[in-house]
Amino acid sequence: MKLTRQDFPQDFVFGAATAAYQIEGHSFGGAGSTHWDTFSATPGNVVGCENGAIACDHYHRMDADLDLLRDAGMDAYRFSTSWARVLPEGRGTPNQEGLDFYDRLVDGCLARGLKPFQTLYHWEMPSALADLGGWTNPDVADWMADYAEVITRRIGDRVHSIATLNEPWCVSYLSHFLGHHAPGQRDIRATARAMHHVNLAHGRTMTRLRDLGQDNCGIVLNFEATEPASDSAADRAAAATQDATHNRWFIEAITRGSYPQEALAGLEPHMPQGWQDHMREISQPIDFLGVNYYTRGLIGAAEDGAPWPGTRQIAGPLPKTQMDWEIYPEGLHRTLTRMTRDYVGNLPIFVTENGMAWPEEPDHADDARTDFIDRHLQAMHGAVNDGVNLQGFFYWSLLDNYEWAFGYEKRFGLVHVDFDTLDRTPKSSYHALKSAIARQDHS
Ligand code: FCB
Repeated sequence: MKLTRQDFPQDFVFGAATAAYQIEGHSFGGAGSTHWDTFSATPGNVVGCENGAIACDHYHRMDADLDLLRDAGMDAYRFSTSWARVLPEGRGTPNQEGLDFYDRLVDGCLARGLKPFQTLYHWEMPSALADLGGWTNPDVADWMADYAEVITRRIGDRVHSIATLNEPWCVSYLSHFLGHHAPGQRDIRATARAMHHVNLAHGRTMTRLRDLGQDNCGIVLNFEATEPASDSAADRAAAATQDATHNRWFIEAITRGSYPQEALAGLEPHMPQGWQDHMREISQPIDFLGVNYYTRGLIGAAEDGAPWPGTRQIAGPLPKTQMDWEIYPEGLHRTLTRMTRDYVGNLPIFVTENGMAWPEEPDHADDARTDFIDRHLQAMHGAVNDGVNLQGFFYWSLLDNYEWAFGYEKRFGLVHVDFDTLDRTPKSSYHALKSAIARQDHS
């Protein structure tokens, strides 16, 4: 790799990210059913109807997995705690085994010199709450804050930072408008409610975390580099609408207490009553912003007369990953400078996810991924030079894992997982990143 640790600010944090349902094995340790268990059991939603029942069996292999992070020379580990593992019914009696597990996880990080970066919600809505409408029910904000309190009372004294939610756009729009993720709805009213309630849950949870005395709290948002497919007025308008729903909705609510007009144009009639009264709690101060970035979105206008949002995703010409996502590091640079300029100023930013899926290669050669990381590190380096207060980068993901609707086919890991034996083997990208972030010995 062209860049090394020395090219980044002194306290820059290098780490890798995972999420509970994608690696732990949700059938172990008393975790409750989640909407991903039932979504995946419904034919047509997930490749091969695969689910997270076993996943990477991280539940039983946590120590070896933490060793992999330490042995790569990483400074931090971004993981999520599963709501349904902590509270199998979503509310009520906690699962002591689940709390013990996260307690060991945090201590295991600290023992290895890894800063624990916790995310409270990375998509496993407990089924008992999904039955009550999940993200479409306004009570979800209080349910989430209550869950946050239970887990924070157990591990909040030792985690380095807490992100309330991972990727609210996926939680709401992808899951309630496009229907690609659990609960698989395709309904504009459900979408508007979920898009607002997910912000409200962020705000309510922030309030609770502050009441508990937590600092270093923030949120992880996902951004795409949205571009119009052509210079036509129609394509430019379509791209502006997409930018509003995907990139602006959440960050504007959180930093300005407002929603973009281009998005309200379609969603406002379906918003829950009194939403304006929530904007103050939603826009309370955060301590950091997590940025997840993977690719660009090339957007054109839908056919004449198509209802809002009137957008169409166009396949772009650039080289693509196993997900068919264009490789576009410039978009990361642009996202980071845009956040700084338009929204967060000097607030610390972390790239909390960036990575690529790539098929298995003989002998775990992994040049494509190494090149991808290298190019995105250069984009981050450029952003730092342009004044972005970027404080860390987490590769997605440590392990090949359960890639949601794509099952186990898409491999994002620095470490290969054989899903028959569950053996872990570091790929060449793991070794390349390890060399790049190795600390120089000045002694
Ligand atoms: C992000 C998710 C993460 C993983 C990567 C590929 O949207 O946060 O769980 O699926 O994409």
